Amino acid sequence: MSDNNSRRRFLLGAAGLAAAPVVAGVAGCTPGEQTPAGRRTAGSAAGGGATAANAITLAARRRLGSLEVSSVGLGCQTMPGTLYGPVSSRENMITIIRTAVDQGVTLFDTAEVYGPLESERILGEALQPVRDRVVIATKFGFEVDQQTGERGGLDSRPDHIRQAVDGMLQRLRTDRIDLLYQHRVDPAVPIEDVAGAVKELITTGKVRHWGLSEPGVQTIRRAHTVQPLAAIQNQYNLLARDPEEQVLPLCEELGIGFVCWAPLSYGFTTGTINPYTRFAEGDFRASVPQFSRENMTANMAVVQLLQNWGVRKGATPGQLSLAWLQAQKPWIVPIPSATRTAHLLENIGTEDVTFAGDELRDFTTALNAIRIRGERVPAPVLAGTGVEAPRP
Ligand SMILES: NC(=O)c1ccc[n+]([C@@H]2O[C@H](COP(=O)([O-])OP(=O)(O)OC[C@H]3O[C@@H](n4cnc5c(N)ncnc54)[C@H](OP(=O)(O)O)[C@@H]3O)[C@@H](O)[C@H]2O)c1
Repeated sequence: MSDNNSRRRFLLGAAGLAAAPVVAGVAGCTPGEQTPAGRRTAGSAAGGGATAANAITLAARRRLGSLEVSSVGLGCQTMPGTLYGPVSSRENMITIIRTAVDQGVTLFDTAEVYGPLESERILGEALQPVRDRVVIATKFGFEVDQQTGERGGLDSRPDHIRQAVDGMLQRLRTDRIDLLYQHRVDPAVPIEDVAGAVKELITTGKVRHWGLSEPGVQTIRRAHTVQPLAAIQNQYNLLARDPEEQVLPLCEELGIGFVCWAPLSYGFTTGTINPYTRFAEGDFRASVPQFSRENMTANMAVVQLLQNWGVRKGATPGQLSLAWLQAQKPWIVPIPSATRTAHLLENIGTEDVTFAGDELRDFTTALNAIRIRGERVPAPVLAGTGVEAPRP
């Protein structure tokens, strides 16, 4: 399919959804119901959802270690409405998740601290009817009061991990977590102890695969020795390319998959944020150094590049951002979050965006020439990344 056709398919899909309310086809599924492989439309998935009939369905699959997932996942951190400001409604978030399933997305990413606790609850409710068709990824690693959600410091002690997983299983309405990450390395707990605890959980069937988020590279090696890792989840996008230096080569060497968080630079590389954007009260993005007025003005060169290439290839800037990440390695999977259906469908439409011939090289050369200004996260958050766990 030509790039122009692919753009037309996306626009048709988005227009169809705008014209009528979405009725997610999966709402009527029974537990364990399997979807047919290959391309289909939302309307064909479970007899409903005719409104999404023209939208692209995601058929491509990638491997994180031995775990197969859709080539684009759905991040669910923003769904409680506490990170980037309020969302439309909880009900709409459940509909969006179910629409994602209908459209072929199988990887759903959450964490105990998102909400806190509420993102897992929303995901659990949305996916309960289709549990066997999806991969649920969540993260432990902080003290979180299981009743109030009040968050304390890091805690990856084995007893705490076991306790946290029991709470997650309840909120996610399931008997197993497909991909369990340590959210941040705990400088007080040897990674061998963490890996040992997860290994036990895998043996009992409560967990299937595991991963680490933003760890030090030696910690990856040590963890992988005790219990093979399926994935590393780090921030990776056109403005934050740190993993290219050490983490991606190590993943390649060890056969570990890589999941990119904030693959759209918190929405910036979609072209919908600019130096005049006023973030809502409490929106995390107001604290990101790359987004200070001065830094963002300089960083707009990346958006300009994406827009220029978008015209040429018939793709949106956001789709090109995701396609560029996917083009780096076949085992890289971006997990953009979306609290609007049109955004979700646009991101799924990345499936039809590819770099041909010298395009990837040419685009990357142009990207390399842009000097990115500012850190990717605020300094206190940055301090918790790349940490090496203590030795036993
Ligand atoms: N491991 C970690 O430490 C860590 C840290 C942060 C995040 N994460 C994970 O990564 C996921 C994604 O990260 P993120 O949400 O911070 O950043 P992101 O996915 O790069 O950006 C999300 C933002 O982009 C917007 N957006 C998405 N698709 C769009 C489109 N096609 N056009 C225009 N705007 C679009 C969203 O808007 P709408 O909401 O309005 O649709 C939202 O404001 C999270 O949900 C979470 O699961 C992990």
